[in-house]
Amino acid sequence: MSIQIVNLANAFNIEDLRCIAEWRLPRIAYDFLERGVEDDVTLAANRTVFERIHFKPSTLVDVSSRSRQVTLFGRTFTSPFGIAPTGAAGLYCFEADIALARAAEAAGVPFVLSTASFVALERVAREAGGTQWFQLYMSKDREAARGLVARARDAGYEALVVTTDIPVAGNREYNRRNGFEIPFRLNLGNMIDGALHPHWLVNVFLRTLLDSGVPRFQNVDTNVGGRIVAKNLSEFRARRDALDWSDIAWLREFWPRKLLLKGVLTAEDALLAAQYGADGIFVSNHGGRQLDGAVSPVEVLPEIVAAVGDRLAIMVDSGFRRGSDIVKALALGADMVFVGRAALYGAAAGGEAGVRRALEILASEVDRVMALIGCTDIPSLTPEYLVLPEPLRRAV
Ligand SMILES: Cc1cc2nc3c(=O)[nH]c(=O)nc-3n(C[C@H](O)[C@H](O)[C@H](O)COP(=O)(O)O)c2cc1C
Repeated sequence: MSIQIVNLANAFNIEDLRCIAEWRLPRIAYDFLERGVEDDVTLAANRTVFERIHFKPSTLVDVSSRSRQVTLFGRTFTSPFGIAPTGAAGLYCFEADIALARAAEAAGVPFVLSTASFVALERVAREAGGTQWFQLYMSKDREAARGLVARARDAGYEALVVTTDIPVAGNREYNRRNGFEIPFRLNLGNMIDGALHPHWLVNVFLRTLLDSGVPRFQNVDTNVGGRIVAKNLSEFRARRDALDWSDIAWLREFWPRKLLLKGVLTAEDALLAAQYGADGIFVSNHGGRQLDGAVSPVEVLPEIVAAVGDRLAIMVDSGFRRGSDIVKALALGADMVFVGRAALYGAAAGGEAGVRRALEILASEVDRVMALIGCTDIPSLTPEYLVLPEPLRRAV
């Protein structure tokens, strides 16, 4: 059964999709999606940073033939952005991990599956095509880590994205206030809130419950040689505060394909990533969900590009909601931009079709901005198209 009263064609931008998501979701799910951490200072800064960067367009350029394509790791993508890994995405639509991957495939962009998915990584790989990467919440327990990484390898994931910015969990006070826990637990408050959001209750929560039981993470009950080494995400991530570069060296030996580190915010760490054999990095503050007060990726992008741009592929995420944001980061030297919430707003607003709509909006906005600044293809974007605030100008 599906109650669908939203006309996605009337969502003209990502903010429209966010409004539908807010309306559809109970507070416990919406806060987990939308909020950052503590006072949401970094969350807000991730948006305002773009307002300080302006375009310097060239005029009377023939832009009648233009392309959004980028080539990365030997693959050509239709647009210069992809979908970032988001755990517990199944709270936003039924089997969201598959919906996100399929929408990415249809749009010709990469998708990163989170360790914390409600659908097992093998199923996502099997049932959705396209370019899929696997995000790893690394375990200090080598046996557990080896088990999960081997599963991602055997399922055919093309790249491993190791998230490095969670030595401890961020301080998400709203989650505690809302009683947010996975496996999902019902209390009176969220039962009433669920009942007030019937579309979500029926199409997402009850459908998941009937199909596969109480929503839970499917990748971390890692079974190594018939022995369960971790029963849940917390157990799997035990001693994550002890992780260091030696764990990356170990992973580099074990993982045969592309290796990327997600959560790099300094040129020094980017250089270490290159030294330890990474193929790329995600310049990211986790969408403002870990350290409140952390710098926004766009502010440090130029110095990181200057340090390792010729050695590593540079992805960037956190705060991207408009095509213009994406073009600005590409002009500053990023190879690709990733979106987390923008895709999940789409999932909550309309399942796979909603994610497709989100990606379509971003693609058309990128295309329009490219034409308006007089640039016909992504590799031709340079800081010359931008007017930058002083600290950024010094780093370019
Ligand atoms: C609901 C949600 C869940 C997330 N889960 C993960 C995760 O499991 N692993 C991870 O590395 N990052 C996770 N992130 C962070 C995203 O990968 C990405 O860094 C962030 O969303 C980018 O910012 P944006 O949402 O403003 O685009 C999550 C983000 C959100 C919104």
